[in-house]
Amino acid sequence: MRMPLIAGNWKMNGSLALVEEFGRAFAGVSLPVNVEVALMVPFPFLEAAGRALGETSVTVGAQTLSDQPSGAFTGEVSAAMLRDCGARYVLVGHSERRILFGEDDAMVLARVKAALAEQLTPVLCVGETLEEREAERTESVVLGQVEAVFDALDEADRIRVVIAYEPVWAIGTGRTASPEQAQAVHAAIRGYLSRYDDALAGGVRLLYGGSMKADNAAELLSQPDIDGGLVGGASLKADDFLAICQSAG
Ligand code: 13P
Repeated sequence: MRMPLIAGNWKMNGSLALVEEFGRAFAGVSLPVNVEVALMVPFPFLEAAGRALGETSVTVGAQTLSDQPSGAFTGEVSAAMLRDCGARYVLVGHSERRILFGEDDAMVLARVKAALAEQLTPVLCVGETLEEREAERTESVVLGQVEAVFDALDEADRIRVVIAYEPVWAIGTGRTASPEQAQAVHAAIRGYLSRYDDALAGGVRLLYGGSMKADNAAELLSQPDIDGGLVGGASLKADDFLAICQSAG
């Protein structure tokens, strides 16, 4: 079966002091054994987070990467560098990257491939804007974003990708998708994946993201096609993030 994954996305927040605080908070508790937990921290905190969380089962990840392996790309960070710093996961195509930094489907695909080539697990983020939802384009937008990546990967690589459905209108707004709304999109994604093969559809983990909090996580996570969460704001408070992790067990 699919092991639930709760991933925190700190975005451009946090500090070394917060990394240390999380290390202390997570060292003192036992997480459910059947839940995987990851924390996507800003690049400069990767190594420190790996150390601080080293005694815990929490793995560390990054929030983006270059599509290039090395070279004259000032300011960029490669997949191999992320691995060197202890990352196991990397977010790709977060809506903030798509909207604020102009990452289109082709750029997202190139980054997914770069991550896979270095044995990082890409967490492919997809989701519709409010305008697209109101125009009843949710499924076509989301499935289009999935297709742009999955069509271009071979069978062995497809199963290595995690998908995070994050409706743009629910990110940082406090307006969570209802469990039914989220489940409907997750089911549509899984239905789409079954066009490749049933084992893929049954095996790929689908996370929900968008104002997931300690008090709404359990209901979202109880939906049959929701295999975990991608948590923004609530992943910046150790107690809140821990509570979400516990509710996935
Ligand atoms: P919030 O949980 O703050 O809404 O952010 C969701 C998100 O974008 C995680 O990647």
